[in-house]
Amino acid sequence: MDRKSYHHRPRVLISRPLQSTVIDKISQHCEVRVHPLDEAMPVEMLAQAIRDVDGLMCVGQRVGKDILEAAAELRVISNVGVGYDNIDVEACTRRSVLVTNTPDVLTQATADLAFALIMGVARRVVEGDRYVREGCWSHWQWNAMWGADVYGKTLGLYGFGRIAQATARRGLGFSMRILYHARRRAAERIEKELVAEFVDCDTLLRKSDFLSLHVPLTPETRHALNETRLALMKPTAYLINTARGPVVDEAALVQALQRGTIAGAGLDVFEDEPKVHPALLTMKNVTLLPHVGSATGEARLGMAMLATENLLAALRGETPPNLVNPQALESGSRFAKRSSPV
Ligand code: 8YV
Repeated sequence: MDRKSYHHRPRVLISRPLQSTVIDKISQHCEVRVHPLDEAMPVEMLAQAIRDVDGLMCVGQRVGKDILEAAAELRVISNVGVGYDNIDVEACTRRSVLVTNTPDVLTQATADLAFALIMGVARRVVEGDRYVREGCWSHWQWNAMWGADVYGKTLGLYGFGRIAQATARRGLGFSMRILYHARRRAAERIEKELVAEFVDCDTLLRKSDFLSLHVPLTPETRHALNETRLALMKPTAYLINTARGPVVDEAALVQALQRGTIAGAGLDVFEDEPKVHPALLTMKNVTLLPHVGSATGEARLGMAMLATENLLAALRGETPPNLVNPQALESGSRFAKRSSPV
């Protein structure tokens, strides 16, 4: 790949205040600017800040075409996250900007959270906590707070990538029957190990007691869980979403919950974060979390370190380990061979 030559240390913008160890590591090789606030940069501010940078460490930040047009020097966007629907990857590829992500390091944390939501909604954990705190618990009752068993039930996985498979592994520990639907069937070895059955989408919806979503957000998966599909689910079933909010038609989900088409939901992601459909806020059978699938110390450090590795490799002119748009290398004549390696 042709590379631009540097007459300066590469300039990097970090869009959130990441761990100081991570910032220090990047600073050893690059001139670093860090957005000091733990919130997305306003578009105009980002457009201004990105003008002369070679690399962007992108943390919970939308990067559209317009931003890229403002970034004449940019060669890499290192996304600190596995999903990259926040970035206009096609536009990046056209401009020979490499895009990388952080798979694997957050798989276990996210699968833990999916399972926490399964347990939480089935056993009404959050509802019970609120009941006690609010002083409603006057005496023990035989009939109070009945939930549903998790052990031995059917776990349906929509999508069957790393996080889905890690969730399946947890399900096995609870003797669950594992069904999955994905664009492509998994290797026989994986199906055997996880005792997972590949089924068509309708069967998945009809049979699952807990339907957990694990697909990336793409034009094909947007509103994949719409009114028609939700209607196929059992009235005793729970929907779990730790993937991306727009995979579910939130208004249709609200209707399904109001009508009792399904029993409840555990949601870590929403259609228009941080907004949440107001009806969901009133429902006791719904657990709501503020997009924290990867929010453990271990996972967040792993993500930041892997994103750093990707960033520095790209700036050195190497192919980064987690490149999501290899086509950008082919169209990469924008940069001439660089002189001083990172
Ligand atoms: C990130 C996520 O926190 O990795 C993902 O896809 O959803 C989260 O782990 C989020 O993308 C912000 O970068």
